[in-house]
Amino acid sequence: MKPPIKVAITGAGGQIGYSLVFRIAAGEMFGTDTPVELRLIDLERQVPIIDGVKMELDDCAFPLLKKVVTTTDLAEGFADANWVILVGSVPRKDGMERKDLLEINGKIFVGQGQAIEKNAAPDVRILVVGNPCNTNCLIAKASAPKIPANRWFAMTALDENRAKTQLAQKTSTDVDAVKNMIIWGNHSATQFPDYFHATINGKAATELIENDWLENSFVETVQKRGAAVIKARGASSAGSAANAIIDSVRRIITPTPEGESFSMAVPSDGSYGVPEGLIFSFPLKSKDESYEIVQGVEHDELAQTKIAATLQELQEEQAAVQGMLG
Ligand code: LMR
Repeated sequence: MKPPIKVAITGAGGQIGYSLVFRIAAGEMFGTDTPVELRLIDLERQVPIIDGVKMELDDCAFPLLKKVVTTTDLAEGFADANWVILVGSVPRKDGMERKDLLEINGKIFVGQGQAIEKNAAPDVRILVVGNPCNTNCLIAKASAPKIPANRWFAMTALDENRAKTQLAQKTSTDVDAVKNMIIWGNHSATQFPDYFHATINGKAATELIENDWLENSFVETVQKRGAAVIKARGASSAGSAANAIIDSVRRIITPTPEGESFSMAVPSDGSYGVPEGLIFSFPLKSKDESYEIVQGVEHDELAQTKIAATLQELQEEQAAVQGMLG
């Protein structure tokens, strides 16, 4: 059997953590032939909860789960970690925008970036989920300059999944039939779910669905879905966020089928005019343990305006945290 993959999760005592860890331990993230070790990291006041989650993980007798560590100590939690999932952050409440969280959460990510650089495995990859995830990723990455840029990810798989389902339901097709649903930019209400390039059973979504619905209802539903869930549940998405974490890691580690792409926010290499280093959601293709940003996607004027808006928001966020970028 392969050596275990060590997965560290911050905020592990929260709702996303609870929806996530059992699925990782069952083999849904790395496959049923790959053992795992879990590091459940959380704040002091959450210790009874993560200890309880560990008890439950033990009680599942998962054959792939080789070890579970619960800790408040980042050095212990990140030690030799191959994957770090940064979930912990102060969650958005009803009426708050992600920008409100910048100050509160930014500082946490400085310490976490430093601790990852110091303690994690040489091949560590980091997925930032805690909001505002693009800019938190920017901060953590700036605090860990020795870790290569292609190891940092901020999650827009949840937006991609939401968008795919909207298109599938609208056309009464299986969600599997929807491909190339690109999310551009920020994981926020300015993101651009790019229906122009999405296909359904190989046909352009724009051929199958009326433009008015795509341009207005669809875009807005996807952009504001997180807020709608918060309003409905009184708490932010947890099950769907955990599911998107599993999907994110699987999409990164599995070669992307020819002609397809998936969405993920990564450090820009200057593609599509996005300034280098900004954590921006692009279409990616995974390949040979790494990825490339899909090139050559063309945008009409409307799409360009929308991409410019989300880029501007990310640049404003970057300016707001400049002091934390070292
Ligand atoms: C989501 O998209 O559901 C989460 O990022 C929570 C939020 O603040 O929207």
